[in-house]
Amino acid sequence: MSAPLPKLQQIPPQIAAVADYEAYARARMTPEAWAYMNGGAADELTLADNLAAFRRIRLRNRVLADLSQGHTLLELFGQRFAHPIFLAPVAYQSLAHPEGELAAVLGASALQAGMVVSTQASHSLEAIAAQAHSPLWFQLYIQPDRAFTEALVRRAEAAGYQALVLTVDAPVSGVRNREQRAGFLLPPGVEAVNLRGMRPLQHEAQAGQGSLLLGGPLLAAAPTWADLAWLRSLTRLPILLKGVMGAEDASRAVAEGADGLIVSNHGGRTLDGLPATIEVLAEVAAAVQGRVPLLLDGGIRRGSDVFKALALGAQAVLVGRPFIHGLATAGAVGVAHVLQLLRAELEVTMALCGCPYLRDIDSSRLFFPAL
Ligand code: FNR
Ligand code: LAC
Repeated sequence: MSAPLPKLQQIPPQIAAVADYEAYARARMTPEAWAYMNGGAADELTLADNLAAFRRIRLRNRVLADLSQGHTLLELFGQRFAHPIFLAPVAYQSLAHPEGELAAVLGASALQAGMVVSTQASHSLEAIAAQAHSPLWFQLYIQPDRAFTEALVRRAEAAGYQALVLTVDAPVSGVRNREQRAGFLLPPGVEAVNLRGMRPLQHEAQAGQGSLLLGGPLLAAAPTWADLAWLRSLTRLPILLKGVMGAEDASRAVAEGADGLIVSNHGGRTLDGLPATIEVLAEVAAAVQGRVPLLLDGGIRRGSDVFKALALGAQAVLVGRPFIHGLATAGAVGVAHVLQLLRAELEVTMALCGCPYLRDIDSSRLFFPAL
């Protein structure tokens, strides 16, 4: 394998769609980092399904609608957003570009996109916030050390983050075969800087008898519903639960005080064999009944995918790998361009389906073939 190519300063005109970034990005990352960023759990069934499920859904157009007005503005938790496309929390963005999250947040700001910053960001959450001109939310992994976790929440509040995204689908990391086969290790200089100084998990406790993981220290320290109540008591920021994939958990989350939900299977990186997120969205929306905002991520590669998610009950979506590919190709400019492509495609889809406003997008704009 040859060394990664230098980053581009400008976007080649041949890049017409988000998918076109993949080859450019791959040529500009090490094979190990590429495997980490793009891989999924185990056989990558869920990873593949996330994309395939969007591709199966067909649209219904509407002709001659009055499109003289219209916009993509929305409000969530009293915060105004220019459009419903967010950057998902992605760890260690310095693997894609030396400026990592600092470049990503500039790209997000240029396109007025909300960004969710990972607990495992490779730049300090304060430095990222200092560069931001659009709303930031902080993705929280509850750490075994709850005092450290609280300090992290306080830092996010002090830096101006406007919501917490509590990721609950990864108490253990998935079975990451692709990354292991590629020999991925974090290179020197890339680390979860916001977790510096954290007390490491005490390893003297033994795993339960006859098990490798269950009953052991890692899972003993994993968050439970009680930790949602704890977090709720700690902060006034809205709390979204990320990783909800069904009606039962969704109903319970709302009952336990979650202010929003993100339907997510972690981009197919945790439990392989989960369904595509777009396939469970309607079930979750039916359980939530509009009581809290619903977001979705996983497999969004086109503005028409954003439209499909909104039609099935999401208020907004997040993208992960697409913006990482933009970042790896051309830093902030690449991230901005990826967002620009998705925004433009969404607006074209809205226009052709006769939807001047986001609120017009519902399942009447989807085509369900007769069985
Ligand atoms: C993630 N994701 C993630 N989620 C989270 O809550 N905290 C994190 O630190 C990370 N880290 C992370 C790293 C990498 C390399 C990827 C690809 C993903 C999951 C992410 O927020 C999101 O759920 C998925 O990326 C959405 O799927 P797509 O858009 O990548 O298909
Ligand atoms: C991942 C973890 C950091 O998906 O959430 O890599």
